[in-house]
Amino acid sequence: MTQSFPVPRSCPFAPPPEYEHLREEAPLVGADLPGGKVWLVTRHAEAQQVLSDTRISTDPAMPGHPMAMLSEFSRSDEEREALAKFHAGQFIDMDPPEHDVYRRMLIPEFSVRRVREMRPGIQEVVDRLIDDMLEQGPSADLVEAFGLAVPSLVICRLLGVPYADRDFFQSRTRTMVSAGNDAPEISMTAAMEIWDYLDGLITEAEREPGDNLVGRLVTARRETGELSHDALVGMTFLLLVAGHETTANMIPLGVLTLLRDPGQLAGLRADPGGWPLAVEELLRYHSIVDWVAFDRVATEDMEIGGQAVRAGEGIFVLGASANRDPRAFERPDELDLRRGARNHVAFGYGVHQCLGQNLARAELEIAYRTLFERIPGLRVVGKDAELPFKYGGAIFGLHALPVAW
Ligand code: HEM
Repeated sequence: MTQSFPVPRSCPFAPPPEYEHLREEAPLVGADLPGGKVWLVTRHAEAQQVLSDTRISTDPAMPGHPMAMLSEFSRSDEEREALAKFHAGQFIDMDPPEHDVYRRMLIPEFSVRRVREMRPGIQEVVDRLIDDMLEQGPSADLVEAFGLAVPSLVICRLLGVPYADRDFFQSRTRTMVSAGNDAPEISMTAAMEIWDYLDGLITEAEREPGDNLVGRLVTARRETGELSHDALVGMTFLLLVAGHETTANMIPLGVLTLLRDPGQLAGLRADPGGWPLAVEELLRYHSIVDWVAFDRVATEDMEIGGQAVRAGEGIFVLGASANRDPRAFERPDELDLRRGARNHVAFGYGVHQCLGQNLARAELEIAYRTLFERIPGLRVVGKDAELPFKYGGAIFGLHALPVAW
């Protein structure tokens, strides 16, 4: 029997329950989508194999690419035309060697050293938002007041968005991310406005490149002549999209998880040196990016995990299943903040492995640590069953998280 797909989550602290059964059945399982059949990769070893195999493509224009088989992602001609604008520079959808030209230009911007230099700026962003919460408290929606705002303001600093434009930029990114699948036309309008804004930012930098990410991209483009203006706009847009919704969902979800586990939270309070490992484990445990970024298609006939896969067959890697595979992690369903397992695939694997992972780690660590330090009495208002989780969402998280102190 083949599995219908996607399978929604039903518990905020676990992948869809069907995954355990699928993982035991086989490393690759066939699934029925509204538009055809695909392979689901259920185990950790095969997930890494697929994500690093150069014969497997991520390009949505390749025949058999699985995203178009999902009704909610297949597009009308009109939508396709509107989306064409966003195509330039989206190297997450490109294969090597084209992909590498883009990624190479950005690697130094996200190195461990560069992210270390960004930490005081991230701390400032986090502190200001907590100041505002405390001033307006003693209650807040942590998604609105904190989760969505942290990554948006961090990306503003990274791209050099002038102070005067931050409210506009933040409100548009918030709308784009929150409207998401529920109101695609509102989300699309906000995305267009952001694109136009970034277009202006790049044009400005072309006149006078500053000492920031956008300025350095413009200078590199002048020196190598490799990329178009639109490609640079697209690259900055990708950074915004890839870095925003992910981090914005992970912050409140992590806070909720820690508040539900007072023993382990007390351990972190007593030993703040444990935060980096805790962040890693929260990423593995939640795997908020499950299959949605892991859409691939085979370009040749091959064998994966003993299963024949033909050229043109679509593949979804189930990141949330791979991260709970007992072959890779002991007691995989247990949240163990001292586990120290860095082989999780929450940031992917292979050439597309998350470019912003060092930045994401720094944002999460600073956000969690500072929040629990500065608001020691923080508590969630309401029971888990009453909280609005994004059970059917492309990226898992919460629509809102009412907190008080
Ligand atoms: C909790 C936060 C984050 C999570 C869970 C996450 C997860 C991921 C995953 C799973 C991929 C791989 C997609 C694939 O294999 O096709 C990815 C790629 C990417 N991420 Fe992240 N991400 C996070 C934060 C960020 C941040 C903060 C940035 C930058 C500001 C960023 C930028 C990117 C980019 C540019 C790619 C595409 C890389 C490529 O195709 O070479 N991400 N991310």
